[in-house]
Amino acid sequence: MPPTSPRPSSPDPTTTSPDPTTTSPDPTTTSPGPDTGDIGIEGYDAVEHWVGNARQAAHYYRSVFGFRLVGYAGPETGVRDRASYVLEQGSIRFVVSGALSSDHPIAEHQRRHGDGIRDVAFRVDSAERAFTTALDRGAMPQHEPTVLEDEHGKLVVAAIAVYGDTIHSFVQRQDYNGVYAPGYEPVADDPMSSDVGLARIDHAVANVPEGEMDAWSRYYQSVLGFSQLRHFDDEAISTEDTALMSKVLTDDRGRIKLPINEPAPGEKRSQIEEYLQAYEGPGIQHLALETDDIVRTVSGLRRRGVGFLPVPDEYYADARQRVGAVDESWADLQQLGVLVDRDDEGYLLQIFTEPVQDRPTVFFEIIQRQGSQGFGVGNFRALFEAIERAQRRRGNL
Ligand code: FE2
Repeated sequence: MPPTSPRPSSPDPTTTSPDPTTTSPDPTTTSPGPDTGDIGIEGYDAVEHWVGNARQAAHYYRSVFGFRLVGYAGPETGVRDRASYVLEQGSIRFVVSGALSSDHPIAEHQRRHGDGIRDVAFRVDSAERAFTTALDRGAMPQHEPTVLEDEHGKLVVAAIAVYGDTIHSFVQRQDYNGVYAPGYEPVADDPMSSDVGLARIDHAVANVPEGEMDAWSRYYQSVLGFSQLRHFDDEAISTEDTALMSKVLTDDRGRIKLPINEPAPGEKRSQIEEYLQAYEGPGIQHLALETDDIVRTVSGLRRRGVGFLPVPDEYYADARQRVGAVDESWADLQQLGVLVDRDDEGYLLQIFTEPVQDRPTVFFEIIQRQGSQGFGVGNFRALFEAIERAQRRRGNL
């Protein structure tokens, strides 16, 4: 079965212009055009969360995750239909948006999916060129290039659709020096600001239904010129009960890393299937946020009440054997529940939060890379066994 087409009428929230979505090509039939190279992606621009109560969600990301509120759009700034909060830490930018009426696309999205990630936006040198190139190569259009202007300059935004109701905006902001986009006003000196050392987005992981991973992998390769970095089959990522498969897509500069998971047949319902049911379709499963000091970051997050997946003590006896010497204290890592994995290039430290909303959908990974550019494949089994213990407690396994 091909990936589901995006449902219409989901305007880009940085504007209130009508959604120009017209066609929904089937990515399974997308073939690479003559030019399959770079389309000018420079990095992540922002991740937009569509939520039920943006005011409270923004408060959570500030008080718990240490983000600084830097901008706001809403009725007070002339935006009548939604409220959006711009939050920053390191080079990470979140936009948290909520609807002000039941007929708004954000309200519809939230009703269906619960709180979730709508947009993983990329900064590009030319939104027009990125969009037209992507469309020439078979991308599903979401939002035509639109020029937004105010006294701070000019921003150009376009967007393409991917799995489910998820989109990638292309944001061209080299001629814009406002806080985020026209319609937003700066917020000075957030009194709650107290960062935990989160520095940058490392990767964003999607969950898609069984049988659709390959089509989406081809879509990213043909449309965005990404290449497949790694492939983990269900042998690598399995426990006694469940399994999944994953492919990692990356841009040619290695700044964007987008793993795509699909469930593999297993004895019981996998975490991917649980997500797909709870989110009512495919979407972003987790965002990995990189820190340069995971002990400090995770200590801060734990102190502020973030719940992480529990790791059994037995994991550490095995990990010390498997990984060998690390710069950090094993006692700290064990006390904090940080997982460790090593490959040819070095090692990495990682930990996974519990879902950050009531539905068992979106969660965060905190990662520190010490040479390794991997994803912690050696931790998969240990991790999934921990996830399945949590699933079992929810009665979903
Ligand atoms: Fe990850």
